[in-house]
Amino acid sequence: MTNEQTSPSVAIAVAVGENFAIGKNNQLLWHMPADLKFFKQTTSGHTVVMGRKTFDSVGKPLPNRRNIVITRDGNLKIDGVEVVTSLEEAIEATKNEEKPVFIVGGAEIYRQALPKTDTLYLTTIHHTFDADTFFPEIDRSEWDTISSETHKADEKNKYDYTFEVLKRK
Ligand SMILES: NC(=O)c1ccc[n+]([C@@H]2O[C@H](COP(=O)([O-])OP(=O)(O)OC[C@H]3O[C@@H](n4cnc5c(N)ncnc54)[C@H](OP(=O)(O)O)[C@@H]3O)[C@@H](O)[C@H]2O)c1
Repeated sequence: MTNEQTSPSVAIAVAVGENFAIGKNNQLLWHMPADLKFFKQTTSGHTVVMGRKTFDSVGKPLPNRRNIVITRDGNLKIDGVEVVTSLEEAIEATKNEEKPVFIVGGAEIYRQALPKTDTLYLTTIHHTFDADTFFPEIDRSEWDTISSETHKADEKNKYDYTFEVLKRK
């Protein structure tokens, strides 16, 4: 008898436009402090897993979180970050974690992780953006909505936005 887990609970945190846009030129498409705050609250104290391009875009490890970066470059070394060469390796490295592990992008990593994900922290920014990077469209019939909270734009947040937590049925 062992309590050792074989896989962590995998969650995704993502912010999308109405058209599922998530980025352009390796940058985010908006500056929404309310979403940054929500992201920080949701993921602090957890492990975050991201693709190498998203890490480059952020430029440093996210504080108060174990950071894992996925690359095909087996020689890449980054201070303060664990580097792995596949999503499977990232999940294996976190298999004993009690808290959910957060996949935090970008598109390539979301696409591979979505089938393994049981919880989706989905922020929708209510605007259609010109983008080069998109989140895979989700089939709502596969997900239960656990919570949904819509906020109006204000002086700091240019667009209306909705925070949802979805659980796979
Ligand atoms: N709106 C949001 O919530 C959000 C969140 C995160 C990111 N973003 C945006 O998303 C964009 C970046 O997304 P992206 O799709 O271009 O890049 P990405 O998913 O961040 O990173 C792609 C890189 O990950 C590595 N990779 C992917 N699959 C792999 C595999 N199976 N095995 C090993 N390595 C693998 C490769 O790194 P190497 O090239 O080093 O081999 C690949 O180039 C940016 O615009 C960013 O701002 C948006």
